[in-house]
Amino acid sequence: MTKLYLTRPDEIGRVSPEIYGQFTEHLGGVIYGGLIPDRDSGAKTDACGVRSFIVDKLRAIDVPVIRWPGGCFAETYDWRDGIGPVGKRPLRRNWWQNEDGRTEPNTFGTHEFMAFCRAAGAQPYFATNMTSLTPMDIRAWMDYCNSPAGSTTLAQEREANGAAEPFGVKFWGVGNENWGGGGNMSPLTYASDLRRYAVLMENADPDACLIACGPNGADYGWTEGLFDGLKGAGHHFSGLSLHYYCGTCGGAVDFTDDEYYTLINKALRMKEIVDRHWSIIRGRGMDDRIKLCVDEWGCWHEGGSGPSKGANLFEQQSTMRDALISALTLNIFNNAADRVFMANAAQLVNNLHCLFLAKGADCICTPTYHVYDMYKGHMGGAAIRPVFDAGSVEYSDSETGRTAVIPQISLSASVKDGRLTLTAADLSLTDEAVLDLECAGMSVGRCLAHRVLTSASVRDHNDIGSPDAVRPRDIGDLSSVAPSALTLPPASVSMFEFAVD
Ligand code: AHR
Repeated sequence: MTKLYLTRPDEIGRVSPEIYGQFTEHLGGVIYGGLIPDRDSGAKTDACGVRSFIVDKLRAIDVPVIRWPGGCFAETYDWRDGIGPVGKRPLRRNWWQNEDGRTEPNTFGTHEFMAFCRAAGAQPYFATNMTSLTPMDIRAWMDYCNSPAGSTTLAQEREANGAAEPFGVKFWGVGNENWGGGGNMSPLTYASDLRRYAVLMENADPDACLIACGPNGADYGWTEGLFDGLKGAGHHFSGLSLHYYCGTCGGAVDFTDDEYYTLINKALRMKEIVDRHWSIIRGRGMDDRIKLCVDEWGCWHEGGSGPSKGANLFEQQSTMRDALISALTLNIFNNAADRVFMANAAQLVNNLHCLFLAKGADCICTPTYHVYDMYKGHMGGAAIRPVFDAGSVEYSDSETGRTAVIPQISLSASVKDGRLTLTAADLSLTDEAVLDLECAGMSVGRCLAHRVLTSASVRDHNDIGSPDAVRPRDIGDLSSVAPSALTLPPASVSMFEFAVD
């Protein structure tokens, strides 16, 4: 039995709904064939041409924000290619063309993405190209999107293209991975460019939330160097992007138990990475103005295990192991509600760590989708610091060959509108855990919901022919759910909701 203490005044911060964000890049089968089914596929689409299944499912999880158009793709994307009559849009080299031979038809552009966001109920987050466009070009995109109806020539052009009212795009990324594909810059070079771009972008729309290119995982030197390079300059951004892919271990669906634990441990590193970058932000006295935006995260298995069998670049299957990684990662973000204001799983469909796999007319939810569904009660809640003994699981690390340990339990808790939401992952493959919940500063009433996601094997996954092989189970008899004995089955994700006052 594990004692879990939740003390009401011990609040970490408000769980920004945007932590539950998604990411769609013009890459492989994400947009064309995924979000936008092929014309002759027979798939049901909504008015904006997007696969209805995905729109409906995103609405069901209250998706708050979607990042677009990349990723690396963003760094060669000219937004002007994606507006105006579809038949007149240019065919361009896609960033990923050297890997999958596909060109970019630009049939999905700003208006189409906005229609998708509206249908799904999400806010847009635009990643801008600061590698090969000028600050003036980006300022023009902001003008095009956000200027009041008729107020500028670009607002008039927007209206001529079918949208009189402004799109109201709040989130703007200033570049993408500028330490890599986005120009291979040093932090000082990026800082120097950021000064120019961010000043003009802030000036174009003072209400915009600008997100600067931050580090790749544990590259603390990038964060230090960036702030060094910005010394003496105003900081015209409020988000610092962080990318961390935990990678893979073994295959996407075939892996040993030790490979399972090894990857879980790599995913758990997210906490240290967030905390250390945050300590740099705090050390620079910027913690009241800048927060972290983990706008790419997830597993990165080998391609070829998804329904396209490798035709879609980076497409991979997502198993129950990926669902557990989603659960522990979202718990880390909830428990860092004072530091992380947005996070975007990479990517939405037919790609890395995705929520959906689509082929032709068919589309299914991965186990990761179900985790987002189970966690949605946290959005906007007050995160409460959980105090508990997480226990430990010993294993032989597949990469170092050494004995290593991971905590058995990952969890987070939040309170909103008289409801306590508690989400927990039991990471052990063999042992159940039982929590004895003790609350101070609030009294816990009846259980309102209890849902469990687990499967006979962590290798289990959903596929086009078996879309519900891994799906959550609602516990019908809630009267049997006692706060003093909350059972977590081995290798499971659990969600409990209790009435509190
Ligand atoms: O998500 C795939 C790619 O990973 C993105 O384009 C890039 O930003 C990252 O390296």
